[in-house]
Amino acid sequence: MQNELLTAALAAMKNAHAPYSNFKVGAAVLDADGNIHSGCNVENAAYPEGLCAEAAAIAALVTAGKKEIMQVCIVGESGKNIPPCGGCRQKINEFATPETPIFVCGPEGLLQKFLLKDLLPYSFDRKHLEEAE
Ligand code: THU
Repeated sequence: MQNELLTAALAAMKNAHAPYSNFKVGAAVLDADGNIHSGCNVENAAYPEGLCAEAAAIAALVTAGKKEIMQVCIVGESGKNIPPCGGCRQKINEFATPETPIFVCGPEGLLQKFLLKDLLPYSFDRKHLEEAE
């Protein structure tokens, strides 16, 4: 994992809006051109409206006109190993490949490397829509 990916995720994490869980998360994705897009979790007083850090990073990627995720870095302030939630696995899957690495980090550095295929086996994607025709 590039150091810059964790640096970007950490910077995003510091801006997390997590007054309800007090669980700040940052995420960064590396695109196919080597650019990094980051995001943080954004909670809401209406709890289900909260946004995960990965979703925010993916929104930044797409906003920048990019559609490919080469690497993902997720960092939690707690230092715990926090693999992406189920919904975020699906969101990553939209722009990644089964071999895309997902680096789960604490503020001090890498805790565990996953591959998307191990976090989201038998995933639903666009080819299932094509096959339905
Ligand atoms: N959270 C993330 O941002 N990403 C994850 O992968 C797991 C959970 C956030 C959502 C919520 O704001 C807080 O962490 C506690 O669940």
